[in-house]
Amino acid sequence: MEFFEVLRKRRSIRRFQDKKVPGELVEKLLKAAFLSPSSYNKRPWHFIVVDDKEKLWRLSKAKLGASGLATAPLAIVVTADGEKSDVWIEDASIAAEHIHLAAVALGLGSFWVQIRNRMHNEEKSAEEYVRELLDIPENYRVLCIIGVGYPAENKPPHGEEIFEWGKVSYNRFGMPFEK
Ligand SMILES: Cc1cc2nc3c(=O)[nH]c(=O)nc-3n(C[C@H](O)[C@H](O)[C@H](O)COP(=O)(O)O)c2cc1C
Repeated sequence: MEFFEVLRKRRSIRRFQDKKVPGELVEKLLKAAFLSPSSYNKRPWHFIVVDDKEKLWRLSKAKLGASGLATAPLAIVVTADGEKSDVWIEDASIAAEHIHLAAVALGLGSFWVQIRNRMHNEEKSAEEYVRELLDIPENYRVLCIIGVGYPAENKPPHGEEIFEWGKVSYNRFGMPFEK
């Protein structure tokens, strides 16, 4: 699939078929993540592959907006060593997006579940909830979870309306950019 087509076809898929993601595709998703750039090439990330049904169900309870993980056959939890890099958020975000895009190219669907800065309930952060569930060491920060699987919903690719030319300036902020 041509790269621009991958970009247009990338939609958030939150319902999945009851079908395992083959090991070789899981490996490709992880390779896509490892191909990410990172500040000073520190590569602070650590990915947790989850296909255990019970754990996926528990992850779906991490916060509001995570429920799609209950039908996902696979989740990749994106973490990074916050002591290794002061820009671990950026590094981990790029890796997460690589996974999200690679899924499209591989005929899979996926969605991003934000964990950092989100709450599980009034007392506990979503990050703490996920940390406890998956035994993640304190120095590793949890950015997000990418739920992955074969889509059980059909979403159209993004159309022309996605291109918000009014959000582009030319040479100076506020000067219209003429295509
Ligand atoms: C930083 C970030 C956090 C997101 N958090 C969630 C989330 O917690 N749960 C969810 O279902 N979708 C989440 N999304 C997906 C967005 O809702 C989605 O990308 C947006 O609605 C646009 O739809 P599209 O992905 O189909 O283009 C998140 C996306 C990003 C980039």
